[in-house]
Amino acid sequence: MHIFAFDPEDYRDQYQQQGWAHIRGGIDPEFLAELQRVGRDLAHVEKLDRFAIKGKKEQALYEFPVSTRYPDEIFDAVASVCGLERDSMTLSERHIQLYEPDASPHPQAHKDRFPSQVSVGLSIAIPEQSRLVLYPYDCRELNPFNAAAALIRHLQPNELPEVVLRDAREVEIADRPGDVVMFGGSTTWHLRRHAAGAINLYVKLNDFDCDPLGEDPRTAVRREHTLETLAAANGGPLDGVTVKVSRRLDSIARRLTLGDLQEVLEASLYGSEPFGITAAQLRLLRGAREAKPLDRLVEEMGTNGRSREDAFADATRLLELGALDVLAEA
Ligand SMILES: [Fe+2]
Repeated sequence: MHIFAFDPEDYRDQYQQQGWAHIRGGIDPEFLAELQRVGRDLAHVEKLDRFAIKGKKEQALYEFPVSTRYPDEIFDAVASVCGLERDSMTLSERHIQLYEPDASPHPQAHKDRFPSQVSVGLSIAIPEQSRLVLYPYDCRELNPFNAAAALIRHLQPNELPEVVLRDAREVEIADRPGDVVMFGGSTTWHLRRHAAGAINLYVKLNDFDCDPLGEDPRTAVRREHTLETLAAANGGPLDGVTVKVSRRLDSIARRLTLGDLQEVLEASLYGSEPFGITAAQLRLLRGAREAKPLDRLVEEMGTNGRSREDAFADATRLLELGALDVLAEA
């Protein structure tokens, strides 16, 4: 079964020039029928209650049928239309969104979480009066947080979307079931008007190895490989491995303790309690934003007043905690 029914070449210029693309009838008819079946019967998908925002929408993780060429067909299409690096394409979300009957007809605009370099909406059931509204020509700063709501919480009153978008040019898309819309989700303010009853499949992608929610099938495979590598080394040296910051890393924070307001460092993976890290370990994480051999990482970032052994021990701890991962050899 195909997922899409369009030639990416036909939409590449549109996306490059205007920062979004509306692909009328872009979903393959057979796949659309499958999505509509799932939409009608959300019992077939696992409900993720922790995502539910009351009065707005329910979200459920969507499992693609095994008969689709998932995720490669999506990677091929989005890399081509949006100009992303095909080799490093990463899926960061695949949720069916079901807007509740009491969803606000005029919600506040939001920007999707940081990993949503491209947000792809597949329209399943769209009420006649519902519209997807994008602001692709103004205020395109990146949401650096791993949640839409976190960006809103960090804005000052004069930076809120309802203030900065007052004179912005809006694009109102009257999408219909079967349509596909692609836009820069983490950089574009957007909202859905008259959303009550609408059902969409949203897939979010990037080409920089970021999948905090762990929804790309290859993210778990990478973690598995890391744990196998650690087990095989059995406390000995990790020879010749290439490491990178984990796809699941959610945040790194400086926190002030109660009482004497001492600064401590902590990191967290999505959905897990934070763990303390040292300044030396933070240097390793900074250095591992790009994939590199562990030996070189330690050389460049680690030693800084510490022994090589200590730096390797720091790296090993970050691998164990899941802040770093070992990449499989190409
Ligand atoms: Fe969104």
